[in-house]
Amino acid sequence: MSLSNKFDILVIGSGGAGLSLALRLADQARILVLSKVSLSSGSTYHAQGGISAVLDANDSIESHIKDTLKAGAGLCDPEVVRVTVSQGKENIEWLKNQGVEFTEIKSKDGNKSFHLNREGGHSHRRIVHTADATGKAISQTLIERTQLHPNITLLENHNAIDLIIKNNPSFSEQYVQGAYILDTLNNKVISIAAKIVVLATGGASKVYQYSTNPDISTGDGIALAWRAGCKVSNMEFMQFHPTCLYHPKERSFLISEAIRGEGGRLILPDGTPFMQLYDPQKELAPRDIVARAIDNEIKKHGIDCVYLDISHKPAEFIRQHFPTIYQQCLSLDIDITKQAIPVVPAAHYTCGGVLTDINARTDIQGLYAIGEVACTGLHGANRLASNSLLECLVFAERAANDISKHLTEYPEPTGVPAWDESQVSDSDEEVVVAHNWDELRLFMWDYVGIVRTNKRLGRAMHRLEILKQEMAEYYAHFRVTSDLLELRNLVIVAELIIRSAQLRKESRGLHYTQDYPELDNSKPAKNTVLSPDIKNTLLKIY
Ligand code: FAD
Ligand code: SIN
Repeated sequence: MSLSNKFDILVIGSGGAGLSLALRLADQARILVLSKVSLSSGSTYHAQGGISAVLDANDSIESHIKDTLKAGAGLCDPEVVRVTVSQGKENIEWLKNQGVEFTEIKSKDGNKSFHLNREGGHSHRRIVHTADATGKAISQTLIERTQLHPNITLLENHNAIDLIIKNNPSFSEQYVQGAYILDTLNNKVISIAAKIVVLATGGASKVYQYSTNPDISTGDGIALAWRAGCKVSNMEFMQFHPTCLYHPKERSFLISEAIRGEGGRLILPDGTPFMQLYDPQKELAPRDIVARAIDNEIKKHGIDCVYLDISHKPAEFIRQHFPTIYQQCLSLDIDITKQAIPVVPAAHYTCGGVLTDINARTDIQGLYAIGEVACTGLHGANRLASNSLLECLVFAERAANDISKHLTEYPEPTGVPAWDESQVSDSDEEVVVAHNWDELRLFMWDYVGIVRTNKRLGRAMHRLEILKQEMAEYYAHFRVTSDLLELRNLVIVAELIIRSAQLRKESRGLHYTQDYPELDNSKPAKNTVLSPDIKNTLLKIY
């Protein structure tokens, strides 16, 4: 193996989680950061509302904890919540020191402080932001900083296929040695050896037909970890954002919750408001409630979308606070200072993921998971708005501290096997991949979406079994391509979501089923943990 294929740490993913971890460790380790497409291809770049943190004198850590636990509907890990929320302020300062410019306001005495947004489920204004393009500011700054560091190598257009795990007869003693990577521009597979691998691959919302997420969000890290033997938790809790722009030319543009935070009202096509029918907090109820309310109104009235109206606010205020949303809508002939915005819910965030401990360690030695790919215990059954970027930063820091302490203890990777393609040829039927992609995302939307039933889940599972077989056969015979790899991963993610949903015989947080419409308070709330080492039986609720 050539020297350039060997690193101390391999970070798979260049979003907020991956890049901040790399920056924190770069002075002591040689790090390779991979991105499947461009460095800014992840959800981080698209984040709008901001990052939640307790910065206002009238706010408190206790209040942020309480709001997070309430949204999480009994399934948050209280210790993880406390640790994450308590580390918010220092992580915002860290980002500021890296060069991120957050929106500030000047008080009468001339002092500057962060302007704080309000979002659903938060009892205080506590969202730090850069106008309505917070993710772009973070992403660009972190990319610039990592590009400047001599110990960090950044590789775009490199798609991680599978982890390389040291074969050890004892399952529990496995450790990671690196990964196989498809260089998508040159169409060749390379092996990268590393003492530590960090999964920072983002979420899996592209498993649904309608999603706010960029194309990379195909749950690759979850599938890689699952195939390697890690437990995966809480996959039934897929979050649907209530307000994605409804427009034939733009299917995945988010209309930030911050618009509702500033007084935006949800209305029917005839102008009638409806959120008062669903929750006393109306438009600022937690996301699951607002998304279900919209879904219900759309189905009840047979309409394509509902509308979000902020036009009662002064035009200058709207343009100043929401410049990106204003411009994007204007480019589609919607002037949000005068007109209501057509919106529908869309898959937005993966609350479940690779099960980790409080330092982002997974079940496999040397393998960490941070950011949206992970299930740390912070979000429980429903993520509170803007807690995701916070989790990315806090867990990148925690993982970095843990890695820093133990780096020298991990064995040097040796004898990493080369990729074997002696048994495969180029595909002559790529149409199968394209067709199965569309089919999967459609039945997941129709049968495993905002409102579920046993029957719909059963239907989805039935169709998935057929796709699984076809994909296994296809993968065994043909050379890998990015589309094939993503579909292979989505098939696993879909199964994890359906099976988790089937196991939960109640409605809780983001998982709502008409067959068990109530929360089950008869026994303590439990997380769903699926374990690949229990052969074929998969899954049980721990
Ligand atoms: P990402 O930023 O998604 O990055 C994933 C990276 O992994 C990418 O570089 C990708 O190329 C790479 N990757 C994936 N698979 C592979 C592979 N197989 N091989 C190599 N590389 C791979 N959260 C908030 O807290 N506040 C907000 O205001 C907010 N707004 C949002 C708005 C939108 C439109 C969206 C979609 C999400 C928003 N979220 C928000 C959620 C939040 O942005 C994400 O949860 C968070 O940015 C995820 O960061 P990450 O680093 O885990 O992953
Ligand atoms: C938004 O701006 O509405 C997104 C916030 C989030 O997903 O946390």
